[in-house]
Amino acid sequence: MSAVQFDADLIRRYDTAGPRYTSYPTAVAFGPFTEDEYKAHAYLSNEDPIPLPLSLYFHVPFCDTVCFYCACNKIVTKDHSKAETYLQYLFREIEMQAKLYDRDRMVEQLHWGGGTPTFLSHDEMRALMDKTREHFSLHITDEGDYSIEIDPRSVTAETIGLLREIGFNRFSLGVQDVDERVQVAVNRIQPIAQTLAIIDACRAYGAKSISVDLIYGLPFQTVESFRQTLDTIIEMSPDRISVFNYAHMPNLFKPQRRINEADLPSPETKLQIMQLAVEHLTAAGYEYIGMDHFAKPDDELAIAQRQGTLHRNFQGYTTHADCDLVAMGVSSISSVAECYSQNAKTLEEYYAALDTGHLPVIKGLTLDDDDVLRRYIIQQLACHFTLNFTQVERLFSLAFAEYFSRELELLQPMVSDHLLQFTDTGLDVTPRGRFLIRNICMVFDVSLRKQSVQQRFSRVI
Ligand SMILES: C[S@@+](CC[C@H](N)C(=O)[O-])C[C@H]1O[C@@H](n2cnc3c(N)ncnc32)[C@H](O)[C@@H]1O
Ligand code: SF4
Repeated sequence: MSAVQFDADLIRRYDTAGPRYTSYPTAVAFGPFTEDEYKAHAYLSNEDPIPLPLSLYFHVPFCDTVCFYCACNKIVTKDHSKAETYLQYLFREIEMQAKLYDRDRMVEQLHWGGGTPTFLSHDEMRALMDKTREHFSLHITDEGDYSIEIDPRSVTAETIGLLREIGFNRFSLGVQDVDERVQVAVNRIQPIAQTLAIIDACRAYGAKSISVDLIYGLPFQTVESFRQTLDTIIEMSPDRISVFNYAHMPNLFKPQRRINEADLPSPETKLQIMQLAVEHLTAAGYEYIGMDHFAKPDDELAIAQRQGTLHRNFQGYTTHADCDLVAMGVSSISSVAECYSQNAKTLEEYYAALDTGHLPVIKGLTLDDDDVLRRYIIQQLACHFTLNFTQVERLFSLAFAEYFSRELELLQPMVSDHLLQFTDTGLDVTPRGRFLIRNICMVFDVSLRKQSVQQRFSRVI
């Protein structure tokens, strides 16, 4: 059980901009990277004596309407024919990517993200999954972890039935806040009954896991209003709840300019809301997994954390550890062998590359030995709140105290602040330190030591 203790004073002091470590190094460190480099890693990944299974990600960038807070990579349009064109190109990418990987590599994990994957029509959803099955080896039973992000406003119970039929077994629903005033201010009107109907449908169709996204820090939110939102969602009893911090960065995300800054809760109120969320959800029986995530004790994320098999990748926390992640669609990021590779971020660039018979790779990174080592350490900390120095020494053939002398020094103030403690074999993050896990991870992040990089991340509060 991963207890978490909320210490407002400590959080105030450690409130600094930092990444959520869905990868290490993070995407801001990506640089020039070619299609050929990506292909070389893909071929290399087949050469392992026992090649890893695959994880497939598909990015569907379209949304019907814009939510003003949104920081996702999306295209807002009412023109559904855009999806038709997009799928034709995505199919080409599927064909090209599939050729790089041995056919006997099973797809253990599959995810549709966005934007809004449920922008696609039922026929398009079916066609995309058929195309995927034609070119990759997908499970026909519920063995795989096949998940999709759903905007409850864009689906019916029938859609959920269809998604189950084509192979999805985990559903993640965007809710954000149930308060009407908040919903109006962020341009996302979503009646509670609509969300509940979709959760009921997921359950009726035998979903293995249902997850709900909430955001704190939105306009007009108060401690009391957020308590209502939490109570409403707890009543619906999803298996997982994510509580994201709203990062107001209107310079980076244009729609956020339509949010009136005067309506945003103060940092102090945000802190209180955060505290409420942690205490209320844990009291309701949810376990704190880490970063922004909570799960019921019998959800497989919580089980994996207890068993030490939890991992973290671009999709967040996952039980499917050792996979090569092949990401398709505009702006998506693959993680294959020892590289990260990102696709073109605009449709124009994405289509242009595929039109000339090329994979739309625009940037990425080949990990060196030090990156692989630090990635392992950050994963251990983010997933398990503990680090075994002896194990690191054994796995990477180094003397921990010598290699990480600077980091051990930087950790000292965190020991004095009771965020962590050293043990005979390594370090343990305390319940007070768990909420500040990204600050602890940042100590091991060398790419972050460059100031300019740090300014591109959101703060804790
Ligand atoms: C791609 S959306 C989910 C699917 C669907 N488009 C929807 O909104 O229901 C992913 C999630 O990112 C979160 N999100 C988006 N913008 C955010 C922001 N600026 N700060 C924090 N969380 C954000 C929301 O919780 C949202 O549900
Ligand atoms: S939150 Fe979801 S529906 Fe809203 S704009 Fe972002 S991706 Fe689209």
